[in-house]
Amino acid sequence: MKKSNNITREKGLDHSITLLSEGYQFIPKRTARYGTDLFQTRLLGQKVICMSGQEAAKMFYDKERFQRDGAAPKRIQKTLFGENGIQTMDGSPHEHRKQLFMSLMTDSRLQRLGELTKHYWEQRAAKWKKKDKIVLFNEAQEVLCQAACEWAGVPIKKADIPQRAADFSNMVDAFGAVGPRHWRGRKARARAEKWIRQVIKQIRSGKLKADEESAAYAMAFHKDLEGKPLNISMAAIELINVLRPIVAIATYITFGALALHKHPELHDEVKDYNEDRTQMFIQEVRRYYPFGPFLGARVRRSFIWNQCHFNEGQLVLLDIYGTNHDSRLWKEPYTFTPKRFKDWNGGLFDLIPQGGDYYKNHRCPGEWATIEAMKVSLNFLHQLNYKVPKQNLNYSMVRMPTLPKSKFIMTNVELK
Ligand code: HEM
Repeated sequence: MKKSNNITREKGLDHSITLLSEGYQFIPKRTARYGTDLFQTRLLGQKVICMSGQEAAKMFYDKERFQRDGAAPKRIQKTLFGENGIQTMDGSPHEHRKQLFMSLMTDSRLQRLGELTKHYWEQRAAKWKKKDKIVLFNEAQEVLCQAACEWAGVPIKKADIPQRAADFSNMVDAFGAVGPRHWRGRKARARAEKWIRQVIKQIRSGKLKADEESAAYAMAFHKDLEGKPLNISMAAIELINVLRPIVAIATYITFGALALHKHPELHDEVKDYNEDRTQMFIQEVRRYYPFGPFLGARVRRSFIWNQCHFNEGQLVLLDIYGTNHDSRLWKEPYTFTPKRFKDWNGGLFDLIPQGGDYYKNHRCPGEWATIEAMKVSLNFLHQLNYKVPKQNLNYSMVRMPTLPKSKFIMTNVELK
């Protein structure tokens, strides 16, 4: 470890392999080891600043200092994001595109997503009686895929649901991967984009009638700041930026089920859909369990912060997992305590599983949709009797994204 410009610099040629072998712990381990919120390392052949905590998060969202253009590696764009989508945009074109996503998140539209999610859980549950066991994660993905498509105005044949759900899931599963998992993600994206491009074309030609309030309609007819429609590929990428993450909520539902299993005394927290305690339980699932490990941005122009030099063009990573477990923000961060949210002031930079700051910035526009789908789904679990047989419920802190190994197997499942 060397210090210069007041920044702690990690020795060594490159730490990309260490990042892959330490996963979610890579940044938190080093901030703890060096006793700092900020250190410099080398990843993929470049000097990268890693930072953690509330103050760092505030700084990370300063648009004068940081830009997203050039931050996401192509391998992430070719799997998770889609190439040149909203995640890579800056300035007023970003704000304009963001408005498109935010316009989909009205109260009535969110309620509709909740109703559809509930409906498809009930439909699926009717078939569980005949089954020896169900795997919650797989069921959740297909329920959410059906709900997401219908909500977004994308027709989907029943027989295609397993493949489409797997494709959305494999795009997410590829983000921390090299090798076969990465290639599976690319193949999944190619297939999904081809499908959704057809949907956009049909809506534009009038062959397919889409509800004017739907995401598919919005993407098909959105105009950029110059008044030009999105090209078909971009419209498809942005529509997938709605569908894919809705399916990804299956991860939080699975972790929610795990939390209920580990803390049976908390089962009643999700009993009443509209109660604050359900909301608090869900916030704690999003804080406690790992999903996105960190975010990346590039320095727009050189500046000094806390006596450390940030050089133009440099890549900077903000630690999501570490900030959500920062003991300065969260008392006993490694215990699962929904009640902690009773006194939470709704900070914009402390609970950051889906990013920080206001929605005008890059914060996830799907946060309310995520909370809504989790509420409905965990409330639905509460309405079931089920057994949790012996299985491996451990989750890796190295694999990104992670999940309980068994994906949460349930037996003797029936409605109460
Ligand atoms: C499984 C739950 C979800 C997680 C963990 C998650 C996480 C995130 C994170 C960490 C970001 C990056 C924020 C940043 O760059 O500052 C993000 C952005 C985004 N999310 Fe989500 N998200 C989830 C659900 C959703 C849903 C349900 C939707 C849409 C319905 C959605 C759509 C997006 C979009 C479009 C962006 C890009 C925003 C921008 O760059 O301005 N996400 N999400």
